[in-house]
Amino acid sequence: MNTEVVLEVQGLRAAYGETPILQGVDLTVGKGEIIALIGRNGVGKTTTMRCLIGLLRTRGGSIRLLGHDITSLSSDARARRGIGYVPQGREVFARMTVAENLMVGELVGGRDSKKQPELVYQYFPRLAERRTQLAGTMSGGEQQQLAIGRALVGNPALMLLDEPSEGIQPSIVQLICNVLRTIRKDLGTTILFVEQNLDTILDMGERAYVMEKGRIVGNIDADHMNAASVRSHLMI
Ligand SMILES: Nc1ncnc2c1ncn2[C@@H]1O[C@H](COP(=O)(O)OP(=O)(O)O)[C@@H](O)[C@H]1O
Ligand SMILES: [Mg+2]
Repeated sequence: MNTEVVLEVQGLRAAYGETPILQGVDLTVGKGEIIALIGRNGVGKTTTMRCLIGLLRTRGGSIRLLGHDITSLSSDARARRGIGYVPQGREVFARMTVAENLMVGELVGGRDSKKQPELVYQYFPRLAERRTQLAGTMSGGEQQQLAIGRALVGNPALMLLDEPSEGIQPSIVQLICNVLRTIRKDLGTTILFVEQNLDTILDMGERAYVMEKGRIVGNIDADHMNAASVRSHLMI
């Protein structure tokens, strides 16, 4: 069992305008774990991620990172404290080169990020070949590698990924899963990822939280991470 808790979320609430979306989300992620957050479209997975990185103000509950309450910190401050964020749809800076995108990641992240671009190029050789290419001209899979690299240059303790497999061909998804597992092994990075793709959930996820209507309604422990139980939870 992991004794050190990296992320502890309790009773998290959020809304868009007057519409409540998150209605008390609880989850805990231990050091070095790779955890999936699953659930159908529209249940609040992305909203949860946005609250965790601080892009959406919470209306209740608490978020603790490595024992510190970060609920009221800005997203910049959270990044400096060690959260890396890979948003749904990637959102790389299309008019900047690969190298410039990574530079932005360094500026935002800032935790011992001096040698990190070279490290990113080691994990994703494709990016090394394309350092000077404009990000917007790359394929979806390459942009996803760049979005992960941009988070990685901040040397995050916790990496949040929102549907990393979305719109990407299976062989590249496989590559990305392999690299993320290697990063965890090499650097001890803790990973929480949102996913709907069964193969990706099973490939990386060691445990899973199941979300429905703005709440965690179930979890799948390590002994039950198989296609049948993930499918049954996704079809609630
Ligand atoms: N910017 C927004 N303004 C208003 N409603 C939103 C916004 N973003 C998402 N929603 C709504 O919040 C709910 C949860 O969305 P989201 O967190 O994106 O779900 P998921 O990532 O699980 O598919 C959905 O009903 C969605 O329509
Ligand atoms: Mg989403």
